[in-house]
Amino acid sequence: MNILLIGGGGREHTMAWKLNESPLCDKLFILPGNAGTATLGVNLPISITNFEAIGEAVLKYEINMVVVGPEEPLVKGIYDFFKQDEGLKKLLFIGPSANAALLEGSKAFAKAFMNRHGVPTASYKQFSKNEFDEGCDYIKQQPLPIVLKADGLAAGKGVIICNNYIEALSEFELMLLHSKFGRAGERVVVEAFLTGIEMSVFILTDGNSFVLLPEAKDYKRVGEGETGLNTGGMGAISPVPFFNEALKEKIVQRIIQPTLDGLRKEKLDYKGFIFFGLMISDGEPWVIEYNCRMGDPETEVVLPRLKNDFVELLKATADGTLHKIDVKTDFRAASTVVAVSGGYPGKYKSGIPIYGAEGGMQENALLFHSGTKMEGEQLLTNGGRVLAMTAFGSSVTDATKHAMDKLAKVSFEGMYFRRDIGFEFSDSL
Ligand code: AMP
Ligand code: GLY
Repeated sequence: MNILLIGGGGREHTMAWKLNESPLCDKLFILPGNAGTATLGVNLPISITNFEAIGEAVLKYEINMVVVGPEEPLVKGIYDFFKQDEGLKKLLFIGPSANAALLEGSKAFAKAFMNRHGVPTASYKQFSKNEFDEGCDYIKQQPLPIVLKADGLAAGKGVIICNNYIEALSEFELMLLHSKFGRAGERVVVEAFLTGIEMSVFILTDGNSFVLLPEAKDYKRVGEGETGLNTGGMGAISPVPFFNEALKEKIVQRIIQPTLDGLRKEKLDYKGFIFFGLMISDGEPWVIEYNCRMGDPETEVVLPRLKNDFVELLKATADGTLHKIDVKTDFRAASTVVAVSGGYPGKYKSGIPIYGAEGGMQENALLFHSGTKMEGEQLLTNGGRVLAMTAFGSSVTDATKHAMDKLAKVSFEGMYFRRDIGFEFSDSL
């Protein structure tokens, strides 16, 4: 079948690589893609939110299945656009409806949904502009630290953890009254701080059944030892060493199943990935956030460990036959180390030549592109996160060492990567 993949980061290069491995994949198109995806299929220079143009491309290239990588087109209603069009509605489509994508698109919606369906999450209250004074009183009564969240999509920047009341009240005012996050902050969720260790669990659901994909843990801070500014993700590992059968069972019973039952009860159409961002506190799982897509860079370790034919898995998701599928996972550990532009997540330059990336995909090391482009024969940086090197190993820290060895052969001016991905699970890094 012909497949269109929407997105252009490391997650999409990984998905494109996995789709392309399948004998069921005839022609692969990536929109807009990057220099990595261009080696696996045809990149289409179309905006990910230009649904009309995407629809035209789907008809022109006789696409049979559309897979959506990032959240933005989903939250903006790409699924609904396809379902309302006579020529497009029969396609296999991986991604939720706009109403279901509110699980990620609105933190207030997600929190209320969790409360309606008994999914464990931190206690909270939400406030809009005209409830500013009430919100300030509420904040002053809560223990510290306290978490403020802009309700809408804010490119991963909308969460602020405040350690004192002065900071909390000033951030609250900046968000609600001074549009710090634009329209995304017109409503603010004020939430209790959870302690513990974070991890991510991913499923594919066809609206009835689900399959659990390999779990992962990502490293969001720019500095080693999880210090410094938040980024899109500096690396990830899979498996998560403390994720055992007992924890898995709790997550399925208390979180995944009630979430799927809730979606069904509320008639929210969902065929696609759900990413559960969890906090594990004394062995008990709590939901920090839902995402209506796969994670990046988590995908760069999750899909390499997945042994199934990815097209078959996605086809079963769209067809509603996931109950017939058994997920098979590679026992080896995987780690991905992200190479970023100098200065990221602050200001950085793009268009810098990259050297040593020609090796690309090898048996034990996979070089995924995030922000890259080709100019003639030269590979150039084209974003903050540039490359993600995934390697396998006998443990996550062994895999990280392999990934770093491989990444050391690649260079571009200002290149930086963390050398401690998976550090909690070893004392030798
Ligand atoms: P999010 O944008 O929802 O992924 O949140 C960003 C990060 O903020 C999460 O990955 C957590 O590290 C942290 N965070 C969010 N909510 C909480 C919470 N209630 N307690 C502790 N940390 C949190
Ligand atoms: N790595 C976190 C995310 O994709 O949201």
